[in-house]
Amino acid sequence: MPLAARGKRKIGPTICLEAGRGQRVFVINAGLELIPLLSEIESRAQEHPWDLAALMSEFDLPFSRIWAAVSTLRPARPLGFICFRMLPGGQDVDELYIPELSVAPEFQRRGIGSMLLDLVLRYGRVKGAERVVLDVDPDNEAAVGLYLSRGFSFVGGGHRSGKKRVMVHEFKGQGC
Ligand SMILES: CC(C)(COP(=O)(O)OP(=O)(O)OC[C@H]1O[C@@H](n2cnc3c(N)ncnc32)[C@H](O)[C@@H]1OP(=O)(O)O)[C@@H](O)C(=O)NCCC(=O)NCCS
Repeated sequence: MPLAARGKRKIGPTICLEAGRGQRVFVINAGLELIPLLSEIESRAQEHPWDLAALMSEFDLPFSRIWAAVSTLRPARPLGFICFRMLPGGQDVDELYIPELSVAPEFQRRGIGSMLLDLVLRYGRVKGAERVVLDVDPDNEAAVGLYLSRGFSFVGGGHRSGKKRVMVHEFKGQGC
């Protein structure tokens, strides 16, 4: 899809969240102009951040999406984002893979990470995916807490520390 066609669009029904001082948050499909701002959030939020080139490459992948949580305050600014890839198994989306989720440090613990993840889970369910997969450092208490609260579990069980481990959210048996 040409870059121009991947512009700013709200995702499905507007999801709003109070984020303090009268500002609310909604989620959009990130356009090219947002990528440098998301890269800046990434560099502050992550211990091993993607650089701008990596985020641009992700943006260019035809099967990848970057959704940004944006404040309603003027000037509007992004507060966090989630990347996900739609991996096909035949014609349909089989699996969603989430390579990145970052919330600006000053806006963490206000429900923004949950909002982004919930939207992607809902999207995966609607698209008929069987599962959502991601990698996480098991020592990352915030991320693991969030994923466990959303029904993810470690593949193969156990919580070896240090290296990243795979977590999976299975849709099977949950209905639609
Ligand atoms: C992980 C991250 C995206 C969570 O985003 P967030 O907006 O702060 O998360 P939420 O406010 O929606 O919190 C949802 C749940 O996650 C867990 N959680 C979030 N921050 C936590 C923390 N600092 N310590 C422990 N648990 C935490 C809790 O279970 C929380 O629910 P609760 O507030 O009802 O207890 C955010 O901390 C972040 O950007 N971290 C740095 C980047 C990163 O590690 N990304 C994940 C890569 S795999």
